[in-house]
Amino acid sequence: MSKKLFIETLGCAMNVRDSEHMIAELNAHEGYELTDDAASADLILINTCSVREKPVHKLFSELGVFNKLKKADAKIGVCGCTASHLGKEIIKRAPYVNFVLGARNVSKIADVLHRDRAVEVEIDYDESQFAFKDFRSSPYKAYINISIGCDKQCTFCIVPKTRGDEISIPPDLIVAEVRKAVENGAKEVFLLGQNVNNYGRRFSDVNDKMNFTELLRRVSAVEGLERIRFTSPHPFHMDDEFLEEFARNPKICKSMHMPLQSGSTDILKAMKRGYTKEWFLNRARKLRELVPDVSISTDIIVAFPGESDADFEDTLDVMKEVRFEQVFSFKYSPRPLTEAESFTNVVDSELGSFRLSTLQAYQDTILDSISAGLLGKEYDVYFEELRSDGYVAGRSDNNIMIKVKGSEEWLGKIARVKITEVSRSVQYGEIIA
Ligand code: SAH
Ligand code: F3S
Repeated sequence: MSKKLFIETLGCAMNVRDSEHMIAELNAHEGYELTDDAASADLILINTCSVREKPVHKLFSELGVFNKLKKADAKIGVCGCTASHLGKEIIKRAPYVNFVLGARNVSKIADVLHRDRAVEVEIDYDESQFAFKDFRSSPYKAYINISIGCDKQCTFCIVPKTRGDEISIPPDLIVAEVRKAVENGAKEVFLLGQNVNNYGRRFSDVNDKMNFTELLRRVSAVEGLERIRFTSPHPFHMDDEFLEEFARNPKICKSMHMPLQSGSTDILKAMKRGYTKEWFLNRARKLRELVPDVSISTDIIVAFPGESDADFEDTLDVMKEVRFEQVFSFKYSPRPLTEAESFTNVVDSELGSFRLSTLQAYQDTILDSISAGLLGKEYDVYFEELRSDGYVAGRSDNNIMIKVKGSEEWLGKIARVKITEVSRSVQYGEIIA
């Protein structure tokens, strides 16, 4: 009988891909098969996130639960960014944990498994040339890493300390991965990195210089590939050449993530984001001008140290002008190993919560007006998911989630859909061609 692996993945798309890599390695080298029942698993992995404080607290209570329910000889491994950040501290606090594997070390999974109490959290470790065994959680779209780590020093962010310096994966390896995904039936690829449009600054090996715009051209030449998405680009690196390629290239999906963080130039400076309110607005205007149907999503942090009412108003002001189709908003959470952790001009927690709910309520009014405008519109939808309620769900090129009545025959297909019913987050439609 094969050994069983249970894996819980928290956090971002990079973690989803890291989990896929670990699943594939464990299957190829150790014969593990996935299970969604932790109690019957021989190995329990938690792939953690450390971007905000809450999930870190939750980790230890969760570990306690897994320790109680696991089979007697089952192993528990903690992977990902909190593993990188806390290292052996995890085994001190939870001595039943068998190993700790950092976000930059996923290729070592089959090895640490056999070294009891192993702690592998080296952030100088280079995985950029590592050819992983293959596992895809969806046959319809493929996550593909184009870089690891991050070279920025945003003062609020722990990621450069958990994933290390940025290294670009050689273009040939990326294109080979894209080809393989397409051969296996994916019409869409999702290129991943902490800062994708900084691609090509540093390769670990001798490689032709290539920036992200050129990489997009190379990837889009893969025959049979229909859709390219990517996350996350950085507003600082959104030069004209990049925006023009985005607009012109028919394979690039017309949805852009533009992580604003704050609309106040002073706060952006304190965050070391490298752009101003005006630069961000200039890029968003240019993007909407080039691609009128584009959808723009963003990340916003409220109550960063020193944020005044006027700074917060600046953020609302940018939201009012850009009218983001999607906003991921967070209250600032001080993180160890970051510069901002030592900032003393903290914003009162209650005021922070008030600003967060104000911002979210404001965004809801924008979303209501955006979704009302979608009624009767037509989109090409790529169906990826069968829902239990008799619907199939997919996304338009510009990232609108659309559900239609239908069965699995639509999965993996692109069809023309007319929107017949709208709501804030999901739209409903009918297939018309
Ligand atoms: N480069 C990555 C950033 C990863 S962190 C990307 O663009 O996806 C994801 C988001 O979490 C950030 O954009 C930011 O909005 C939020 N975040 C990061 N650190 C935070 C902190 N200390 N407190 C609150 N939110 C934070
Ligand atoms: Fe974090 Fe800024 Fe990099 S948000 S991941 S340091 S671009």
